Amino acid sequence: MPIRIGMIGGGSITRLRHAPECRDNPYCEIAGFYDHNIERSETLVEEFGGKSYSSCNEMLADPDIDAVCICSSNDTHARIAIDALSAGKHVLCEKPMAANVKEAAAMVKAAESNQRTLMIAHNQRFVPAHIKAREMIASGSLGRVISFRASLKHGGPENWSVVKSNKTWFFNESRAVFGVMGDLGIHKADLLRYLLNDEVDSVLCLADTVEKRNESGNLIGLDDIAFATLKMSGGAVGTLEVSWCNHGQMEDFVVVYCENGVIRLLQDPVYQIVIEQRDGEVLRLSMPEPQNGSGIMDAFAASVLSGTEPSVSGKDALLSLAVITACLESSKKESWVKVNP
Ligand SMILES: NC(=O)c1ccc[n+]([C@@H]2O[C@H](COP(=O)([O-])OP(=O)(O)OC[C@H]3O[C@@H](n4cnc5c(N)ncnc54)[C@H](O)[C@@H]3O)[C@@H](O)[C@H]2O)c1
Repeated sequence: MPIRIGMIGGGSITRLRHAPECRDNPYCEIAGFYDHNIERSETLVEEFGGKSYSSCNEMLADPDIDAVCICSSNDTHARIAIDALSAGKHVLCEKPMAANVKEAAAMVKAAESNQRTLMIAHNQRFVPAHIKAREMIASGSLGRVISFRASLKHGGPENWSVVKSNKTWFFNESRAVFGVMGDLGIHKADLLRYLLNDEVDSVLCLADTVEKRNESGNLIGLDDIAFATLKMSGGAVGTLEVSWCNHGQMEDFVVVYCENGVIRLLQDPVYQIVIEQRDGEVLRLSMPEPQNGSGIMDAFAASVLSGTEPSVSGKDALLSLAVITACLESSKKESWVKVNP
């Protein structure tokens, strides 16, 4: 029997990633969609099948649904996830998993007490070059990690969201909760923890609003650019830069500086991994197969079917959220902040 999945929130990430990946996974079946804009759910039903639900509660009460995929605005993630887990559904939830660490901990507790899978959609961990780089770093062939530099910058969510204007919820403080640090920074904070197999100890961050304006023409009350210095528990120190104000080519890379060389990830247009060895030799690796989908739905389905811990558990993702909330606190206080979930 396939896992019957209900999708909550029928915007861009559902239409472009989760619905197609659910349809294409032989172990999954789309049970239906709920978006509070019913036209959006109905359009998705026409495209992907399943039924259109008239409320979140109707979907959560449906005994034919085994799991839900939460793709609504950030403010709703924790509440819907806890309701879904309490109704006995497995949960795949988009990032940022919650509005704060306390809510994230309540989600983890709900998953544990209801013995259901809670996975967070940190897709950067599934990029083949990142998986390979993590293995290389763990092997120690390049020696200790000394430093790193991560960047994720594009022109802003108003170019992506189903509502393509400054009316998008991404610019609404109470619905988005976070600006660019919670939207993009969390991807790279999570990736750095994964690549280095290390935790962030403390952060110093500047998060600012320099460009994005809301419908009234005022600067949004959320950061649209942020620069952070991260100190890892293992001793490495590096930077994380994110922006919604990059109007050129999207930037999405990590550089890891090790004792015996440098690993450049996704910086070269052809070779996803470039290794500059200390002796001057340069190794260029391209991944054998192009990545087929994000890998998120496949990993979620595997975890639900096997009853094993998902590749990005709620407990694990909570630590990435804690890095971001520490960064925002640091920016407000203009001082170093310990990451202490
Ligand atoms: N992992 C990634 O790479 C990635 C990329 C983009 C977005 N996301 C995340 O996915 C989530 C959705 O983002 P998006 O880009 O699809 O946004 P979007 O604006 O395109 O769509 C959001 C949809 O959710 C609906 N919605 C909002 N609150 C709802 C609720 N309570 N119940 C039902 N429907 C509701 C809206 O009507 C809208 O159709 C966000 O949390 C975002 O951070 C993740």
